[in-house]
Amino acid sequence: MNCSQYIPPPHKQIFKAGEVALVGAGPGDPDLLTMQAFRFIKQADVVIYDRLVSQEIMALLPDNCKRVYVGKKQADHRVPQEGINQLLVEHAKLNQKVLRLKGGDPFVFGRGGEEAQFILSHGIACHIVPGMTAASACTSYAGIPLTHRKVARSCTFITGNVQDNGALDLPWQALNDPEQTVVFYMGIKSLPTITKQLIEAGRDKKTPAALIRKGTHADQQVVKGSLETLEALVKLHNIKPPSLIVIGDVIDTFADAQLTNIGYLSPKHLSAKK
Ligand SMILES: C[S@@+](CC[C@H](N)C(=O)[O-])C[C@H]1O[C@@H](n2cnc3c(N)ncnc32)[C@H](O)[C@@H]1O
Repeated sequence: MNCSQYIPPPHKQIFKAGEVALVGAGPGDPDLLTMQAFRFIKQADVVIYDRLVSQEIMALLPDNCKRVYVGKKQADHRVPQEGINQLLVEHAKLNQKVLRLKGGDPFVFGRGGEEAQFILSHGIACHIVPGMTAASACTSYAGIPLTHRKVARSCTFITGNVQDNGALDLPWQALNDPEQTVVFYMGIKSLPTITKQLIEAGRDKKTPAALIRKGTHADQQVVKGSLETLEALVKLHNIKPPSLIVIGDVIDTFADAQLTNIGYLSPKHLSAKK
């Protein structure tokens, strides 16, 4: 196909009254919103949002948009998932344009799939607007490439959230490839189990590891060490959620001193590794 002749299809999604839009707000920096997310945000009659949506993004909503906060701190859901589902359907039945604004991407560890299933089961249409997921955006802004030729040929996004029975039952053996970057979401509380299990599964305890707290926000924190020092680093730097745990040799691609601002690598200090 000749790209100069490409004409975008005339079927841009229209946000109609009585519909729900599941919109990914990205990890915090409003500059990482998609144009499509922005368009839906600007049309909302009501927004159902959780704590990962940044203030700067909330400020983009129309003044007359009703705001409903539903919390969603790990294990401290202000409104339980069933209640959130009901709220979405109730507002859609009031013939409103219902914006379900979620941190990152709605379909990555966001229960967006469950919400969409519930909405559809009530005969209500649902727009899905992807957002930048934390693992991708936060590592970029921290100067960490998720893959790098001859260093990491795959990356895995995985949850560190324990199951209902309190166990963290993950495929540890599948995570021990030294050329694999592993990013844990919601893993801070389970960090001792994560590091122990990875080392037992064969991952070298000297493997570089990083913690990224509030990635892409102005006060983002990036702390680097190794698999065996991570636990001590969490205590030392008082790392709390929302944070990612990143494991893999890609962390050493650039020297710490090269990250002179969030998402900004300076050429002044050459990397130790190439
Ligand atoms: C319930 S999950 C939601 C993930 C979201 N749907 C996404 O695609 O990024 C919440 C977890 O995402 C990670 N997270 C989200 N935003 C983050 C940020 N700005 N910085 C670091 N981690 C973040 C943390 O691990 C947090 O505990």
